[in-house]
Amino acid sequence: MKISPDILVREAMEAREKAYVPYSKFRVGAAVLTESGKIYRGCNIENASYSLTICAERVAIFKAISEGEKIKALAVTSSGGQGITLPCGACRQVIQELCPEAELFLADSAGNFETYRIGDLLPMPFMLSH
Ligand code: THU
Repeated sequence: MKISPDILVREAMEAREKAYVPYSKFRVGAAVLTESGKIYRGCNIENASYSLTICAERVAIFKAISEGEKIKALAVTSSGGQGITLPCGACRQVIQELCPEAELFLADSAGNFETYRIGDLLPMPFMLSH
């Protein structure tokens, strides 16, 4: 299943509209494409107990993984006006574990994106060897 990155970025921009951000006012949207061709969206969801906030990337990834899907690509955008949206360290660690091969389309607020792999963003990751 091949879809254009632009479509996935557009999905992330729509997901951003659902962000629950009464504290930061910073909206983030994410969308993942799975091997079965499905798209799962995510937005950041904040909480008055701040540390319970969850990032848009992890919402989208966890939705897909919890449905038994394999993730091929992830798009991320935000309302910030300062270039492309870079996933936080926690999300990088989750991407590394759950979709290490995924293409990452990191977009600015207008949808202009650059393509990366997690190795570009998180070299020498922590992993458990069994
Ligand atoms: N946020 C994300 O959704 N993804 C990231 O990768 C970085 C940060 C959210 C969390 C919080 O709701 C807001 O952006 C400000 O940190």
